[in-house]
Parts: sequence; structure tokens; C-alpha cells
Amino acid sequence: MKKFLDLGLQPLANSYLRTKDLNKREKKFKLEVAFNPKNYLVSILNTVPKEKMFNENYPYKSSESYTMRNSFKNFSLRIKKKFKINRVLEIGSNDGAFLKNFDKKKIVGIEPCKNLAKITRKKGYKIFIEYWSSKLAKKISKKKKFNLIYSANTLSHIENFSEIFEAINISLDKNGILILEDPSLLECLKKTAYDQFYCEHIYVFSSIALQKILNKYNLEIFDIENTKTHGGSNRYFIKKKNNFSFKVSKNVNKNFKIEKNFGLHKLSTYKKFAKKVISSQKKLNKIFNDLIKKKKNIIGYGATAKSCTVLNYCKIKKGTIKYFYDTTSFKINRYLPGTKIKIKKYKKLTRKDADFAFLGAWNFKDEIFKKEKNFIKNGGKFITHVPSPRIL
Ligand code: TYD
Repeated sequence: MKKFLDLGLQPLANSYLRTKDLNKREKKFKLEVAFNPKNYLVSILNTVPKEKMFNENYPYKSSESYTMRNSFKNFSLRIKKKFKINRVLEIGSNDGAFLKNFDKKKIVGIEPCKNLAKITRKKGYKIFIEYWSSKLAKKISKKKKFNLIYSANTLSHIENFSEIFEAINISLDKNGILILEDPSLLECLKKTAYDQFYCEHIYVFSSIALQKILNKYNLEIFDIENTKTHGGSNRYFIKKKNNFSFKVSKNVNKNFKIEKNFGLHKLSTYKKFAKKVISSQKKLNKIFNDLIKKKKNIIGYGATAKSCTVLNYCKIKKGTIKYFYDTTSFKINRYLPGTKIKIKKYKKLTRKDADFAFLGAWNFKDEIFKKEKNFIKNGGKFITHVPSPRIL
């Protein structure tokens, strides 16, 4: 493993503080990112035990964003048409944004965060409140295997590959499809989106790295779609190697080529990226400092886990961002970890709120700009660090 990026001491990104926690010392960990030249995998070096991150207090709900709801809905309609599906498993079903597009009798969800699992259970779905494992895979597929296993933004959170893919091999029918969706490393590098790295994102995958890992488990990618969600993601269609019912699409090699042309197989590319991250930090600080000197009012928009990485890495001083607006009920009246900036219940932005809003949820820029037309029309501006720090 070759370390190429040091994002400093960071708190747990999704541990939003309550008022009574403000004087307590927060646990921090070293956020360092490394590249493995053998399998091209990019991962963080110090991992946090899963029980500390994925538990009954997990704040992130996929259904809260229109973009995500819509993306899951459209995709499920498409796969229902394209493939013959009668038994579906979703690993990391969150609050059901994908799952709810399927017949309750046909889909099973795995969700270790109790608060989220309860939401879908209440609606009558079969949910196992457990971490994904071979033991669980055996339990749920004893009678019948699954012909579709779907997992979005989850596998990058699980450290142990042998556990993930051995379990998938147990549950996946020999002619079944595995569909994985995760942020794309290529997009992360192109956009200098270093905030894709935080405690929960143990890996940010490239297709060339994923193929090498899958190969060890007798699995292979037969198609890849590039999607816009989470700042640019890849959707991988995967099959067992000895399943010849799907032809390997030209898209697969095309993606491999694009990634190799960009240099995702070379350490030098990541070293260059690290330099860009340092310069991004300086530029963002300059923007904030200049605005503060001019006595401008700045708030934050979308108290994301990603913004935790940015604000702590850039050491944004107290008072620079007055507060954050966020739509997630769990986050409201809590404080961002590390910087301790207060999170308030979202309401439509007006110029009374702020002159500038820092886009914590930059991955939802289009959705947000549509919503905040009036703020923009009245001279309000957004600040973003992606693809490089600027005022929009
Ligand atoms: P997201 O970017 O999906 O994830 P992460 O936390 O993994 O970096 O989180 C989006 C957050 O932004 C979520 O807390 C909801 C919030 N949000 C708003 O407050 N308003 C909006 O219009 C949108 C789209 C998101």
C-alpha cells in the first residue's frame, strides 16, 4: 500500500453532535488514503469498527432526495423490463428508496441500521437487521437463491472482501446478476472531490480495481453504466464467470481503457491528485477569508458526511459558516462533527439567511439550484470546492 494523501485528524463523519456532547472530547482518527499498485485499489488506511458507524443512529436516508428517489425508481423499472427477475436481495436497503419499487413478496433487504430497517419493516418488507455475512447469506438462501442482488453505496463501506463476495456467491443463483453501484474513482479524481474519502468510505472503486477483486471470487463485470448520482458513480453488472447467458459488453473494456488512459493504475496519478487537493484547500480558505473580510454572511447547505472531510481538512474557523441547513430530521439541531457548526431545519433560502451558501451537498447541485431559484435571482451565491473552489 502506498500512502498518497493525508487528510488529517478527522471525527466520525456521520456522528452529528447533540448540545450535551459539545464539551466532550470527540474521538478522531487519521484519515489517510493509499493506493495498492498490485490490484489498483484505493482505500483509507485506518478503518473504524463498523458498529461505531452503522447502528441505530445512522442519519443518512436515501429517500430524502428527489434525485436519489428518482434514480432508484427509474432504474428498477428498467431492470424489471430487461431481466427476468423473481427474487431480489438488496444489501444495504437503507430506508427503502430502491426496495419500495418491488413487490414485497419478491424482495429481501439487509440493513444493519435499526432506525432505517424499522421504516421498511413497518411497510411490510422482509428486512434482516444484520451486517452482510456468509452466515446470513446461508440463512436467507437455504431454500432458494436470488436471481438479482443489488447494492448501492454499501460495498465501499465494508472492509472485508472475502466476506462480501463469498456471501454473495452463496446467495446468487448461478444464472443471477449482481448489480453494484458506487462512486467512481475516476470522477473523484477528475473533480478533485477528496471529500469522497471519510471513515465510512473505506474504498472508492475504479472498474479496473473491482474487476481484479471480483476475479478472485470467480465473478466478472459484464456491463458498466456511468451515472450522475453521488457526484459520478459507476453501476456494475456482474455475473458468475461460468454463466454464459450474458455477453460481456464493449462498455467494459471502454471503461477500463478510459481509466488506464487517465492513469488510475499508476501511483504518479494519485500523487498528482494529492497536490491538487492541497491547492484546493488553499483556494477554498482564500474564498472564505476574503468573504469574511468583506463581512459577508455565509451559511452551509447540506450537512453531508463529505462536508465533514472538507471543513475539518481545511480547518474552517468557527463563525466562518454561521450554520447549515439540512432536510434530514435526525441532523436538525445537532452540530457537525469536528467544526461543531449548528445544523438547522431546512427552509427555502432567502437573502435574509445569507449572501453565500457553501454547497455541502454539491452532488445535488442541479436539484438544489432548481429549489433555490429565488435566492440566486436575488443575488445569493453558492460556494463550492468541486471541481475547484469557486463562487457560483
Ligand atoms: P449526501 O450528499 O447524499 O451524502 P453524504 O452524507 O454521504 O456525503 O447527503 C445529502 C445531505 O444533504 C443530506 O443530509 C440531505 C441534505 N440535502 C438538503 O439538505 N437539501 C437538499 O436539497 C438536498 C438534495 C440534500
